[in-house]
Amino acid sequence: MNADEAAGPIIAVDGPAGAGKSTVARRVADALGFLYLDTGAMYRALALKALATGADLRDEEALVRLLQETDLVLTAEPGGQVRVWMDGQDVTDELRRPAVNAAVSQVAGFGRVREEMVRRQRGLARGGRIVVDGRDIGTNVFPQAPFKFFLTASLETRARRRQQDLARMGYHVDTATLAEEIRHRDALDAARPYGPLRQAPDAVVIDTTDMEVDAVVAEILRVYRQRA
Ligand code: DC
Repeated sequence: MNADEAAGPIIAVDGPAGAGKSTVARRVADALGFLYLDTGAMYRALALKALATGADLRDEEALVRLLQETDLVLTAEPGGQVRVWMDGQDVTDELRRPAVNAAVSQVAGFGRVREEMVRRQRGLARGGRIVVDGRDIGTNVFPQAPFKFFLTASLETRARRRQQDLARMGYHVDTATLAEEIRHRDALDAARPYGPLRQAPDAVVIDTTDMEVDAVVAEILRVYRQRA
């Protein structure tokens, strides 16, 4: 399926870790009354399950099998907060654990894992009227999407944002460590042969380094309303 076949518009929001995609995408969806799909949460959920079950993170076949037997449901709370249910259990608060951060790029690097994730993402977005955030949404999952945004920010800013997110969850990690971790994860995400982190040629690029969330949301809504 592509966006032409979807019943309503798809807004793709891609970019590296910590660029503000999920906060912004959730807010844009809320403003337009659209659904929001956090594809990173899907890869994180698989990484969490792999860690919890002791699966070999280098074994593509084992990870594909694990995914095939995993039920993933994403629900939205009032206010747009997404909750992720894996096999009937709410795992939302576990998805941002440092161990998951460290494992997720490896899990997301496998072609057959991505194939199955993309299949599910296209199914979830079938009805359109949805904001989808990830790394390969505008290039690979919905290359025909009429609205594509690519959010960036300096490495320092992205590390600081991640630090604040983690601090809210009770994890205290210094910014230099986080900057190194993000740089490493971006490098893995950009270098992989399947669905790499890449800017679509027709994406609107927004550097969020010195922007408040409100301003980024307003810019996306402005572009959307101008073209819709
Ligand atoms: O957006 P996030 O930080 O929650 O994403 C977690 C990881 O999942 C990230 O390292 C890259 C991967 N990912 C991906 O490969 N493709 C996507 N569409 C979304 C996320």
